[in-house]
Amino acid sequence: MLKTKAILAAATMLAGVSTAYSADLEVTHWWTSGGEAAAVKVFADAVNASGHNWVDGAIAGGGNARPIIISRIAGGDPMGATQLNTGRDAEDLIKAGLMTDLTEIAEKEGWADFIRPSKLLDSCRYEGRIYCVPVNIHSFQWMWLNRGVYEQNGLAVPTNWTEFVESSPKLAEAGVTPLAVGGEPWQLSGMSGVFQVALGGVDLYRQIQVDKSVEAAGGPEMKKVFEAIAQARTLVDNGYVGRAWNDATNMVITGKAGAQIMGDWAQGEFSVAGQVAGQDYDCLPGLGANPVLDTGGDAFFFPKTGDDETTAAQLEMASLLVSKQVQVDFNLKKGSLPIRGDINLDDANACMKKGIAILSDPENILPGSEQSFSSDTQGQMEDLWVEFFNTPEMTVAEAQGRFVEIIEFAD
Ligand code: BGC
Repeated sequence: MLKTKAILAAATMLAGVSTAYSADLEVTHWWTSGGEAAAVKVFADAVNASGHNWVDGAIAGGGNARPIIISRIAGGDPMGATQLNTGRDAEDLIKAGLMTDLTEIAEKEGWADFIRPSKLLDSCRYEGRIYCVPVNIHSFQWMWLNRGVYEQNGLAVPTNWTEFVESSPKLAEAGVTPLAVGGEPWQLSGMSGVFQVALGGVDLYRQIQVDKSVEAAGGPEMKKVFEAIAQARTLVDNGYVGRAWNDATNMVITGKAGAQIMGDWAQGEFSVAGQVAGQDYDCLPGLGANPVLDTGGDAFFFPKTGDDETTAAQLEMASLLVSKQVQVDFNLKKGSLPIRGDINLDDANACMKKGIAILSDPENILPGSEQSFSSDTQGQMEDLWVEFFNTPEMTVAEAQGRFVEIIEFAD
């Protein structure tokens, strides 16, 4: 697990933290797709270059990885560092005193002065102390389209959900799956959050995610979301059950499908495939209807190991993850936006630039569902969306009734 490897001849001086040791840091994360692997390598290289040793602990699929990571920490088998979503994923572990306190380094480096939006760092706070470091801003609110597929079939590239639905029969006739979907619970639940904003509107999203309003959950705007999910299931192929999100992205990249509704991490896949935003593919924030972004993302947590040298290495790693060059290099590969605004992003592609412009207005920023709901509530929602998507006989009214019950008891 975590062992101090060797005493280095000279102290490593990094961002004000100094250590004379080289530690093995096992790092767990769920970044296993092509784009994600390219991005996480930036972190691994930076940690290795600092004199420590990144021991990769990738676990495929967020839905699998999260409970494994949490139960390892809770069960006394901590890793050196772990990715989780920025939000409530690690809430119980922090409360149980199992996470390394990063407050000192955060204050010394002024994280609160440059991490934006500030609510990302707020998600890392518990009783005034800081227990995680946000590394990016990700949003689920995007649709990705293969331009060539539309053009070759004599269709205009859709600029919103309505146009996408209208063009779908012609695409299907040409043997192209209109909508690439993976059937994992988080993928379907995420898609419903995108419909909440695009079709129900920003107010609906806030009423559900922030106010947890039972009335909104049972209301006409939310009904549109259920109807859209019912429509979406008529636009997918039969192989969607259990499909990984990046395999669905690959269907779009290779022209087997017209589009995918997926978070902006999909950009990493287009980039690894050598595709160019605005030329080969298009991106529609808010499905072209309501271009706002929920600002979730990833954060790194450092479980307590009881070993001082490892703690020192954890603090150095935290400092590296927010450093300017690492932020630029990582986020350009990941397709996410950096958590600091004071860095040069000239190399951002057309879709990232759209994202940056949207985020420049605070009104356009919505919370991610990992920030709004506990893991338990999120799990209940995921179960409902999967059941509804997989069961065409289930009516919109029945599914919406179940949703109301979940929101009533949501925490
Ligand atoms: C993470 C992303 C990741 C995506 C797919 C999300 O939960 O925030 O960083 O790329 O899952 O693996």
